[in-house]
Amino acid sequence: MGGEKREKDLREEARELFKTFFEKSKDVQKATVQTIREITERTLKEVQPSKEKVKEITEGIVEGIQDTRRHMGERLENVVKKLQDLTSKATSGLAEIVGGVIEGIEEASEKERREECLRYIKERRSVTYFDPDREVPDEVIKEILNIAALAPSGYNLQPWEVIVVKSREKKRKLKEICYGQQKVEDASANIVIVANLKAAEEHVDRVLDSWVELGYIKKEEREPLRERILSGWKSPEKRKRKAIRDSALFAMCVMIVARYFGLETHPMEGFDEAKLKRFLGIGRDRVVPLIIAVGYKHPEKELLPRAYRFTFDEFGKIV
Ligand SMILES: Cc1cc2nc3c(=O)[nH]c(=O)nc-3n(C[C@H](O)[C@H](O)[C@H](O)COP(=O)(O)O)c2cc1C
Repeated sequence: MGGEKREKDLREEARELFKTFFEKSKDVQKATVQTIREITERTLKEVQPSKEKVKEITEGIVEGIQDTRRHMGERLENVVKKLQDLTSKATSGLAEIVGGVIEGIEEASEKERREECLRYIKERRSVTYFDPDREVPDEVIKEILNIAALAPSGYNLQPWEVIVVKSREKKRKLKEICYGQQKVEDASANIVIVANLKAAEEHVDRVLDSWVELGYIKKEEREPLRERILSGWKSPEKRKRKAIRDSALFAMCVMIVARYFGLETHPMEGFDEAKLKRFLGIGRDRVVPLIIAVGYKHPEKELLPRAYRFTFDEFGKIV
């Protein structure tokens, strides 16, 4: 076999090996990729690496991968062994191997990144049975809400507000308002999503200031735009529609981000809104589109399979 062909095979072999491994692994270590990348750069700089250099580099790769053992479990040992076999076969082909390793890891990382995103959407279910003994720390709830607040909104007015109902006694009362839904009491917290019908008036100046500052609009465009935004919110029906629409987008983000943190959620519209507003002191200029229960699933309860979903052919068309 000619040198070129052999190197190509080695690269392919390393690439496939790592691709398979990282596809199976749930935790792709960016640090490892970075380390291997650095090692490769060093390797490629050497026109003809000495045997000692090759050994040093090989050991570096193996060490870097071994560092990730605790994240990746026992399968790693096989990978390291195979990598050692591969590198011992090759001196001149070392750079090819390392290149293959990186390509394999990067391809798998990209695939995993995509799958990670979809996973949070696919995994989300309306969980009915929460573990009443597991609490979600306030800091985690705040982090979820801060990330969810990256949701889009018309003119970036962000008309959502939340009240997190977490104390035992308040959850018990909220359960009554939610027509006795037990999950309200069992969940660690209930995020009451509030749509602010006065968001345009209350938020427009801060939004426009930031737009001027960041160069989205010129200073002289600020006033006419402000008028346009406020006029869009004039009719009660329009302001309600806008506030609820944006708050619903925010709410969906809350549920997806909660999954990222390993939590379960349950959106609820089953509550007496008038009673709820009295209970939480929510004014007439606000409405409550939904409440989201958040917590951990009860370890002994199983969900039924996901119910029927309409597919694009039923709910959509491309024109
Ligand atoms: C806005 C909204 C309100 C809901 N209200 C309730 C509710 O009050 N009680 C309840 O048990 N489920 C409620 N659900 C949950 C739905 O029944 C559930 O999302 C649907 O059956 C699909 O199940 P899945 O979320 O597990 O895929 C609500 C869902 C949404 C989006």
